[in-house]
Amino acid sequence: MLIRITRGWEIPDRLATPEALVFGRRAVLGGTALGLATGIAGPARAAEPLSLPPAMRNTRYAPGRAVTPEREVTSYNNFYEFGSHKGIARAAQRLPQRPWTVKVDGLVDHPREFGIEDLLREMPLEERVYRLRCVEAWSMVVPWTGFPLSALLDRVAPQSGAKYVRFETAAIPGVMPGLRQSWYPWPYIEGCTIEEAAHELSFLVVGAYGKPLPPQNGGPIRIHQPWKYGFKAGKSLVRVSLVAERPKSFWETVQPSEYGFWANVNPAVPHPRWSQATERVLGTGELVPTQLFNGYGEFVAGLYAGLENERLWA
Ligand code: MTE
Repeated sequence: MLIRITRGWEIPDRLATPEALVFGRRAVLGGTALGLATGIAGPARAAEPLSLPPAMRNTRYAPGRAVTPEREVTSYNNFYEFGSHKGIARAAQRLPQRPWTVKVDGLVDHPREFGIEDLLREMPLEERVYRLRCVEAWSMVVPWTGFPLSALLDRVAPQSGAKYVRFETAAIPGVMPGLRQSWYPWPYIEGCTIEEAAHELSFLVVGAYGKPLPPQNGGPIRIHQPWKYGFKAGKSLVRVSLVAERPKSFWETVQPSEYGFWANVNPAVPHPRWSQATERVLGTGELVPTQLFNGYGEFVAGLYAGLENERLWA
């Protein structure tokens, strides 16, 4: 007899959106201008009817909670380039989404600049419903469309000296008022080890809710590693570099005692300003216990064997 053990983070079938609905909705929304779809009008967006190729949902990474309403996810954001508050969605509509290129360089045999349209065409797109746990103790569950970071790295052939991946995000002074806060170390940088980057869960996100990723969520392309705190998820990426030394991230530069390199979710290790024991679920406001590695320990715990002396958690 086949006994299927439900994992801690899995969602009961009755809560999952039927596939027909997912794909039906996508067919309707596929060509919709983003400004209309989100209900946020912006001069730069109106002229750009972006679309996202259809992508099958990968059910291997069921999130264990109901999907957060789209309007919450697209209107409660951290994107300091547009301001240090949650209401940056309207301002972020000024970030042009096309043309957009991502330079992949550093210790690789085949450095290349990828146009976003090339990535949408060439990469193995799929939908994954991932959780995102912010270090500020709120969380959300989002159907992201994207592709494994490893698929991108395979294209450029990393060299053996590449030990880390550095993510650099857009910094466009005319468009991003937050850059005037000159005490911040722009551009927003993040990073991970090459082993973390190669892990199947490391995902480059180009869409959400079956539509192109809105600028306020990091459109047209961001990184998401769901077992880490959300600040690791650099938005609106312009450059991915393979490097020998550990990159110093934006928040680590701002406040090293509060934000480290690894930043894996751990309910037992409080941040100086936020207990990490529970999290507030966006949309319902419910307080739920936080899980080690944000519930993805079964997949990722092995990455940290032998690294117990590192500051893995904050
Ligand atoms: N990326 C950039 N470029 N700038 C930022 O300020 N904020 C981070 C991360 N990526 C941030 C960023 C933080 S703190 C979080 S919690 C997530 O984005 C929030 O993603 P969301 O707005 O899609 O929920």
